[in-house]
Amino acid sequence: MDHKIALIPGDGIGPEIVREARKVLDKTAKVWRHTFTYTELLMGGASIDVHGVPLTDETVAAAKDTDAVLMGSIGGDANTSPWYKLEPSRRPEAGLLKLRKELGLFANLRPAYLYKELKAACPLREDIIGNGFDIMIMRELTGGLYFGARSTVEENGLRTATDTLVYNEEEIRRIAIRGFDIAKKRRKKVTSVDKANVLDSSRLWRSVVEEVARDYPEVTLSHMLVDNCAMQLVRDPGQFDVILTENMFGDILSDEASMVTGSIGMLSSASLNETKFGLYEPSHGSAPDIAGQDKANPIATILSAAMLLRYSLDLDKEAGAIEAAVQKVLEKGYRTGDIFSEGCTLVGTAKMGDLIADEIHE
Ligand code: IPM
Ligand code: MG
Repeated sequence: MDHKIALIPGDGIGPEIVREARKVLDKTAKVWRHTFTYTELLMGGASIDVHGVPLTDETVAAAKDTDAVLMGSIGGDANTSPWYKLEPSRRPEAGLLKLRKELGLFANLRPAYLYKELKAACPLREDIIGNGFDIMIMRELTGGLYFGARSTVEENGLRTATDTLVYNEEEIRRIAIRGFDIAKKRRKKVTSVDKANVLDSSRLWRSVVEEVARDYPEVTLSHMLVDNCAMQLVRDPGQFDVILTENMFGDILSDEASMVTGSIGMLSSASLNETKFGLYEPSHGSAPDIAGQDKANPIATILSAAMLLRYSLDLDKEAGAIEAAVQKVLEKGYRTGDIFSEGCTLVGTAKMGDLIADEIHE
């Protein structure tokens, strides 16, 4: 089959991790005789350097013309990079937000999973880890504080800034439906996270989630306040299956959950719209401090490519083969620096990509 894939290498370590993911996709295509046609697109700082803006309309149109997008990472060091001297709407991150909005990518799936091979990297105590954990954070991605009206004004010498947290019931319903659909295929538990003791938007969130839950009698729903959730993630992460939450809470909790796995370099993510189209990217950032040094862990991007095959191209077997290849390479003891422990073999970005590509077979 022929498939069109957009690649957005981006900034920092982005280009090198996307290169390795492409290596793995190419091997997959060869084994199963698919044709992947790639379109390379500029976003973030890479786009600012060429076009003066982090995302052009032409790039959005080119992305829309593909079956799925695989992205590396965007952004630089906010203290030293000239990109951060620009006004906020022209900085690298604004490109990513615009792409999410323009492509309608409202459902963000962020798995946080403890690899048994990497247990030593988990910062939690043995007795807290227990039998490990496997959490799917479902983050609403195109609403809430990120996209509400904002302003900064000065009146009578007093500077005042406003951000608006706004959700309508339709925006809540569609992400809740996705959350329950996914929970149905997992351990059938949804924890909906909000701040309903304070916020109106959270009270609406809670009531719409409860309405949706009625259509999923096999799934258990519970509600948790976001501050409690932040605590429970380090107290007993094993209690969670699907965490369903709004944009800003999901941003914060997903970083916490990924850190708790001890392997942020391993975690993939998918951002989906109403169709099969999606944007896939590692959960980590652009790590400008190690860019271009063959040190970055490409596994999160490679696993994001696997998600792309599964969710956007319906290539389940191929996705499974990539995941199994990653598992195999870990079992053989190969590690990049971020997940290295005593007795393992330290490898660089390119070598890790080679090893994984070599393990892909029917
Ligand atoms: C993320 C990032 C983005 C976000 C930034 C880069 C705008 O932190 O994907 O979690 O806040 O959504
Ligand atoms: Mg974030």
